[in-house]
Amino acid sequence: MSDAEALKRQAAARALEFVTDGMRLGLGTGSTAKHFVDLLAERVKAGLTVVGVPTSERTREQALSLGVPLATLDEQPELDLCIDGADEVGPGLALVKGGGGALLREKLVASAAKEMIVIADASKHVEMLGAFPLPIEVVDFGLAALLPRLEAAIASVGCGGPLDLRRDASGAPYRTDQGNVIIDARLGRIPDPDALARALDGVVGVVEHGLFLGLARRVVLAAPEGVQLLINPA
Ligand code: A5P
Repeated sequence: MSDAEALKRQAAARALEFVTDGMRLGLGTGSTAKHFVDLLAERVKAGLTVVGVPTSERTREQALSLGVPLATLDEQPELDLCIDGADEVGPGLALVKGGGGALLREKLVASAAKEMIVIADASKHVEMLGAFPLPIEVVDFGLAALLPRLEAAIASVGCGGPLDLRRDASGAPYRTDQGNVIIDARLGRIPDPDALARALDGVVGVVEHGLFLGLARRVVLAAPEGVQLLINPA
């Protein structure tokens, strides 16, 4: 296992300490969340009773293959804890998520949980969000009309940068589990994430964006020097 993967696994292992018997868990998506599901499955084999609600088809398949009991968000609309990775963790535990394309289901599942714990290696911790392209999930109807409105909304809060339609390995537009497409906004800096989130929420055709604000309560950050727990008192 590479050093980076070992750190992700350490963060996942620390987060597992917050899981108790009987919990209804949101299961995140991405390489860090994958470690969490692996470790959770070991505990389930050893007798832990939990039910997981996956945030993507990928995570659903992984958890199923490892014998983790699963439910849908319709079957379990209230969750105790959601554990997921992030692309960036900024001030106030504001997050950028969706590098793996699962932002919509991730936000729905995190919003249904009493608490969200983010797991990440320390390289994800930033002073300002925005170096990682912000994923924006949009409907694929009339993209040519939507893009200028998206650009204007972003400019209205002092941000800007290229808006790229995400593509898969074959070159076709990437499709989310909900069948939508993703625009990756290469903004560089997001000085006011709340204002940007509000602006994006107001654009017709935007289904969801990767700014997760006020959702993460704790962040487990793994660095070579050790594992750190960041807590949002709010
Ligand atoms: C998935 O859509 C994302 O939100 C992931 O949680 C995020 O991209 C972090 O992924 P890694 O753990 O692979 O860095």
